[in-house]
Order: sequence, then structure tokens, then C-alpha cells
Amino acid sequence: MDTINIIDAKNHVDQEVKIGVWLTNKRSSGKIAFLQLRDGTAYFQGVVVKSVVGEELFKMAKELRQEESFYVTGTIHEDARSHFGYEIEISGIEKVGASEDYPITPKEHGVDFLMDHRHLWLRSKKQFAIMKIRNEMIRATYEFFNRNGFIKIDAPILTGSAPEGTTELFHTKYFDRDAYLSQSGQLYEEAGAMAYGKVFSFGPTFRAEKSKTRRHLIEFWMIEPEMAFMHQEQSLEIQERYVAFLVQGVLDNCQYELKLLNRDPKVLEKYTKLPYPRISYDEAIKMLQDSGKFGDLEWGVDFGSPEETYLAEHFQLPVFVMNYPKAIKPFYMKPHPTRDDVVICADLLAPEGYGEIIGGSERAVDPQYLTEQIKKAGLNEADYEWYLDLRRYGSVPHAGFGLGLERAITWITGEEHIRESIPFPRLLNRIYP
Ligand code: 4AD
Ligand code: MG
Repeated sequence: MDTINIIDAKNHVDQEVKIGVWLTNKRSSGKIAFLQLRDGTAYFQGVVVKSVVGEELFKMAKELRQEESFYVTGTIHEDARSHFGYEIEISGIEKVGASEDYPITPKEHGVDFLMDHRHLWLRSKKQFAIMKIRNEMIRATYEFFNRNGFIKIDAPILTGSAPEGTTELFHTKYFDRDAYLSQSGQLYEEAGAMAYGKVFSFGPTFRAEKSKTRRHLIEFWMIEPEMAFMHQEQSLEIQERYVAFLVQGVLDNCQYELKLLNRDPKVLEKYTKLPYPRISYDEAIKMLQDSGKFGDLEWGVDFGSPEETYLAEHFQLPVFVMNYPKAIKPFYMKPHPTRDDVVICADLLAPEGYGEIIGGSERAVDPQYLTEQIKKAGLNEADYEWYLDLRRYGSVPHAGFGLGLERAITWITGEEHIRESIPFPRLLNRIYP
């Protein structure tokens, strides 16, 4: 008899198999017991019929406890009524690990309670579906960048540079020196692009953001491609192709998970059609002003969640907002050739209220200009000598971007809050478990 995973049930219809499982829920009458089972690959139902298995096994099945682990043997059948499509008619149970009273019962629990039990909450169906989609998006990321000639260059986590400004830095000691946890690997990817042409990083990044919103994590994962001999316009094309590829990957490989989340694939299909609309920051300001919904909003402000939501809702698609005011963007962005108040950059705003999922730009190449900007940003020039070297030895036009993985997951899964898009979220008031 084969030992299989639940996910492979379709290949074993009418065959006898053995599966290692946990019990998530159960219901029974005097004659039949329905055991809800999971094994980490899918969820399905086991059926135990007293007249078939006998008194003793039936009693054992009825007394199984939530999250108890065991092997079941039985025959796979189709089950058109379930999301999964198959069930197992159980003929044997072999117990493995007992379970105490499990804190997460099938009834509703509050978010704080669930977050305190995140290590167990991960076992539930919805969390399973989100983590599988996360995994698919990571898989698709590697596939996309490898197919397109990028190589992965890992950026350090401990660093002395602060690309995104000094207000949200996590300080730490580095022996007798000061250091920070990385906010972004970008500056190192720029070095990588000058060495290897097209590179990307994928790693954890840290922002000591005091904001407690449904879009902010303290620790999040970012994918940061950087490309030599490239202008912003070509970078936007890569960005939209990458985002559409992520959505397509989820559509191709996660239909079961989308069903578990009640996420309509039709909605996602719209996001695979390219190109995405592009508007300038100036146009965005005008649209927001004309809507009359944003008070006396003026040119120069950064957008918050209501503005981003309005803009993307207008198009019902991801939308690039290009060329923001220089004053609200980081030091490294390329100045506009004919205007000194904006920089060559774009944020990609996701529809359905999810806000910015990508920030990117063409990079400034003039070392003199960069030195001034570094000073203006209140950064220590000596810490950026190596970065200025990149402009001293064969500098070329280059551009890159950063996609926040958890923002993108929250959008694609259609979830309310970013905290469920990462296995163990770090939030303003939470570092447990
Ligand atoms: O716009 P950001 O700050 O851009 C950068 O860090 C650039 N250095 C990227 C680059 O050009 N290589 O961040 C990029 C993305 C945002 O669009 C957002 O998706 C995500 O990172 N992000 C966060 N996600 C979760 N929690 C937070 N606190 C986030 N801050 C940014
Ligand atoms: Mg940004």
C-alpha cells in the first residue's frame, strides 16, 4: 500500500492508501463518523462507517481529539461536494501523537488571541491557503528573474547605510560601532548591476515604522531587481510583466487555495492584461483635487492610503504613478531632465484598496549631485564612498525597484490585513511568538 499525501489523492481513486494526518474537526452519529483531516498539503474528509470497521475502531475514531496525529488507511473516493473533490473511506487508524485541549476551536476567536497562537493558527485552512500562495509567489519570482537573465545577489542585513532615510531605522550595535538592520538592499544591488548587469535580491528588510496600519509590517520581505543600461520606461515594463507573472502563477497553480479564500479568479485575471495605466504625479494630484474628496490637497504632498485607494479604484487596475516631487523621495533618484522639482520614479498602486506594492526609480548617476543629496538627507558621506565609486568607474544609466512581498500577497489573496501574509508577523506591538 502506498503512503501518500492528501494532495495526491486524485491519482489514487479507488485505491487503498496510507496517510499521516491531524484531525481538525469531526462530527458523528451512532453509525457514521466524519473526520476532517489535514496533512499540510490539503484538507479532506475521512469517513468511518461502524458496520464496516466494527465497534472498536469506530469508538476510537469518535474519540479522536482535535489536532491529534495518526495514520489513516483507507480507500480514496471522489467527493464532488467538497472544495477538494476527494475523501477517504477509512479502514484503519494508527495513533501517533495525543493532543491536549486545543486552544483554537472551530468557533470564532478574536485577532489578538489568534496572533498569540500564531504558531498553531498557521495550521488552519485560511492560513494554509495564504502560505501556499506566498510560496507560489516566491517560486514564480525566481522563475521570472532567472528566465529574464537576472542573477540573485544577496544584500547584507547588517549595514551602515540608510537608503530610505533615517527616521525608520533599526539601530543595533556592531561590536563597538553602530549599525542598522537593512531597510532595503538597493544600494548593494546597484553595485551588483554594475558587476553583473541584471541582478535581484530577495530578503528581509526592517522599518521601525511607528504606524499601525493594515499595510505596515516592521519586518517584511522585499524583491529588489536592479538593471544596468536601463532607463525608467524599460524598468516599468519589467515591473508590470513581473506583477502579471505573479498573478498568473497563482491562477495556474493555486486554484484550490483561491477557493479556500473565496478569492474570485476572474478578478485576478484582469490583472494579467498589460500594460497597466501610467499617470504622472501631477495628473494624480489633479484627479484627486477634481474629485473634491480630499479637502485642500496640494501639489507636493505624499499620498496616504485614501489617495492611493482612490487612484487605483479609478482604473480598477494596478496603476503606475510617475515622477513624484523630489522633496518626498530618497536621495538616489534621478533628477528630471527639464524640471528640478520632480524625480524619475514610479510607485505601482494596487487596486481594491491595497495601495503601493512597488517603489522604484531610475538612479542618479552624477557623483557631484549624489554627494549633495546625501548631505541634504543628513547622511554621513563617508558611509557612502563605496556607493559613489559606482559612479566613478564606468557609470551607466540604471534603474530598479522594490516589490513588497507581503503587500503583494495581501492584494492577490484579497485579505484584509497584511499580518496574515507572513508566517510570524512583526508588528508595532508584537514580537511573540
Ligand atoms: O518604496 P520603498 O521604501 O522602496 C525602497 O525601499 C526602494 N529602495 C526599492 C528599490 O528601488 N530597490 O519600499 C518598496 C516596497 C513598497 O512599495 C512596499 O510594497 C514595501 O516595499 N514596503 C512595506 N511592506 C510592508 N511593510 C512596510 N512597512 C513596508 N514599507 C515598504
Ligand atoms: Mg515607497
